[in-house]
Amino acid sequence: NWTTASIIDETVAAVREQIGDGHAICGLSGGVDSAVAAAIVQRAIGDRLTCVFVDHGLLRAGEREQVEKDFVAATGAKLHTVDAADRFLDALAGVTDPEQKRKIIGREFIRVFEAATAEVVADHHVGFLVQGTLYPDVVESGGASGTGQTATIKSHHNVGGLPDDIEFALVEPLRALFKDEVRTVGAELGLPEVIVRRQPFPGPGLGIRIIGEVTRDRLETLRAADAIAREELSAAGLDEEIWQCPVVLLADVRSVGVQGDGRTYGHPIVLRPVSSEDAMTADWTRLPYDVLERISTRITNEVSEVNRVVLDVTSKPPGTIEWE
Ligand code: XMP
Repeated sequence: NWTTASIIDETVAAVREQIGDGHAICGLSGGVDSAVAAAIVQRAIGDRLTCVFVDHGLLRAGEREQVEKDFVAATGAKLHTVDAADRFLDALAGVTDPEQKRKIIGREFIRVFEAATAEVVADHHVGFLVQGTLYPDVVESGGASGTGQTATIKSHHNVGGLPDDIEFALVEPLRALFKDEVRTVGAELGLPEVIVRRQPFPGPGLGIRIIGEVTRDRLETLRAADAIAREELSAAGLDEEIWQCPVVLLADVRSVGVQGDGRTYGHPIVLRPVSSEDAMTADWTRLPYDVLERISTRITNEVSEVNRVVLDVTSKPPGTIEWE
């Protein structure tokens, strides 16, 4: 469509002018905003953009592959993945408090991203940091100026030969766009559907969907249950109808069940399908019973630690969308 194409052309030209013959870095989250922002900058400056993707071990099934294979195949972007799962899980060991979890994940994320950035900067003298800021974010923060913004990232002492603080100019190619426009632009740029149509997913990932301590085994259990729920919701054509459907593992709760000849003592999985316009308020989605039945049957059959599936029928308020 010509308006989308011209938005892309104009944005690419503006980015090219801003960056000149410099280098840029972009953190990818797996979400649509960072992916589209990176794809635009890639189109503008090619290999002078380096994308950094931190795998914190709290991603859902297939998300790392979506970035490493699908995103890279669609854009040709230069990608640097940091495998940081061990580090995050070590830092989360023994932690059950939701706010503590968020703080730890946020702190580790910044440290890992900074260290990765410092490496790339040392190689390329990067001066620009790409961010997927959207128009509503710009309005919300009262930042109408649009130019001259900078970000400072502290370099790490174990990376030699760098100034103490690296200063970047911000590149924000999505500053004029709303979310639906970003999705349209992403599709026009050839990004895969799984990325362009992706529903909201919290930065702390599955870390705040395990109620209780986050461990490797529990992540594996939740990942399997979540993949089944997503697969069945998509197959039923419900992706557009629901805003998102957190799948939550009650890791500290057990209940008695029966399977085959045996008694089980497993964990419940909570389905939290919600309908919403902006996540500020939400209603629980009235999913068809047959879809719920398929999800429940498959999860209890295929995920060995889980013997019960329950449905969250709370609106927001009083419940939040996420459980932590
Ligand atoms: P709540 O649970 O507050 O969630 O009703 C509202 C929306 O925000 C998402 N969410 C987050 N997104 N980092 C994010 O990037 C976070 O820490 C975070 N916590 C919640 C949530 O998925 C929902 O869409």
